[in-house]
Amino acid sequence: MKDTQKTAKLTFDDTELDLPILSPSAGPDVIDIRKLYAQGKVFTYDPGFTSTASCDSTITYIDGDVGQLLHRGYPIDQLAEKSHYLEVCYLLLYGELPSAEQLEDFEFRVTNHTMLHEQMQNFFRGFRRDAHPMAIMVGVVGAMSAFYPDSTDIQDPWQREVASIRLIAKMPTIAAWAFKYSIGQPFVYPRNDLDYAANFLRMCFAVPAEDYVVNPILARAMDRIFTLHADHEQNASTSTVRLASSSGANPFACIAAGVACLWGPAHGGANQACLEMLREIGTVDRIPEFIDRAKDKDDPFRLMGFGHRVYKNFDPRAKVMKQSADEVLDLLGVENNPTLQVAKELEKIALEDPYFKEKKLYPNVDFYSGIILDAMGFPTSMFTPIFALARTVGWISQWKEMIADPQLKIGRPRQLYVGAELRDYVDVENR
Ligand code: SDX
Repeated sequence: MKDTQKTAKLTFDDTELDLPILSPSAGPDVIDIRKLYAQGKVFTYDPGFTSTASCDSTITYIDGDVGQLLHRGYPIDQLAEKSHYLEVCYLLLYGELPSAEQLEDFEFRVTNHTMLHEQMQNFFRGFRRDAHPMAIMVGVVGAMSAFYPDSTDIQDPWQREVASIRLIAKMPTIAAWAFKYSIGQPFVYPRNDLDYAANFLRMCFAVPAEDYVVNPILARAMDRIFTLHADHEQNASTSTVRLASSSGANPFACIAAGVACLWGPAHGGANQACLEMLREIGTVDRIPEFIDRAKDKDDPFRLMGFGHRVYKNFDPRAKVMKQSADEVLDLLGVENNPTLQVAKELEKIALEDPYFKEKKLYPNVDFYSGIILDAMGFPTSMFTPIFALARTVGWISQWKEMIADPQLKIGRPRQLYVGAELRDYVDVENR
């Protein structure tokens, strides 16, 4: 970031401040208010951080007006088409596309860390069978700090690297075993002769009673879904990971906090909520009823999979996901999938509706992903764990960037206090 030598003049009461303006490599300038309270004895007020940059970062950039998403400068549509998830992981973690040797070494390290400590199976078995897999994922990821204490010292770069590889490698196993546990089937161990996405599909759908051959086209679609969910600037769960990490908490605890935040239906839980909404709509003729509900201020209903804090144009991930949905459903011979028909018609109607146009509401990453995952055989309860699995590399990359920042400070927002003013205690007999 460059100090532009420009300043923003802030004048109030008898105070006049010149606040530095910093210029990014892409996106809007920012006003540096780090000294505002010290110099002006005032706070800024921005619930939900609609106009607030919480950090500087070199990892991901979103231009919401044109619908662009870059990872280390590379557009997501090119990465989704030409790269694959572990290569995108390398790019996010280390900043550059790997050479063939670097990629081979990275894939070897991830592949050889996919097993979980055998005793961790006891955590899964402590849950009721009908526990949501996200509840299991939050618990097991947090518990990893107890099983892998040799990669919890965040001041040791080597331990940070080991924790990063362990988390990226083990999340598919944790997600798959949460699924297997919920359906009463035995855990399937990872295999080192399968690539990342194929390994995950096999751990989810293989049973001991017969051989399981991964469909390469489904594995490619799974890998692309992972890539599309890998990172997304300072979204709610990434900001949660950064805030948790700023206290010096161990990486497993911080990623567990990210998993917990992602679970919400306004965030990563939207893919599950979206498919359930599409099923509730059921048929194309019921779409207007739901569009009206989404526009009704007195109705809390929102069109799940639509809208975004940053994108005021198409989410580029939704475009790729929509193409992938057509391919996967054709492959599976379910091209007449009623849910996909409802989704496409809903998208068409919403994008023509003045309400959605005026508020710039477009389909986001969660609108089509659930249709693909459903067609692959996943229950809706597994949609958000798959999002968490894929986003782990984004959380880890942002965590590493923050921990390595010499200016790292604990995150501690202030507030606009509107509560009771100073008053004395009153004994109960006098109240
Ligand atoms: C993800 O941040 C990220 O990057 C997240 C993510 C990532 O990769 O990490 O992209 C993943 O979380 C995608 C978003 C998934 N969530 C959903 O699909 C849930 C439905 N969407 C909404 O809840 C909403 O759009 C949010 C939460 C995504 C964004 O909310 P904002 O930015 O706080 O916007 P807002 O609520 O202020 O909405 C602006 C207006 C409001 O109307 P007014 O008060 O101005 O009259 O648009 C309306 C909202 O009522 N609106 C919607 C709507 N989304 C916003 N109206 C109907 N349906 C919707 N989906």
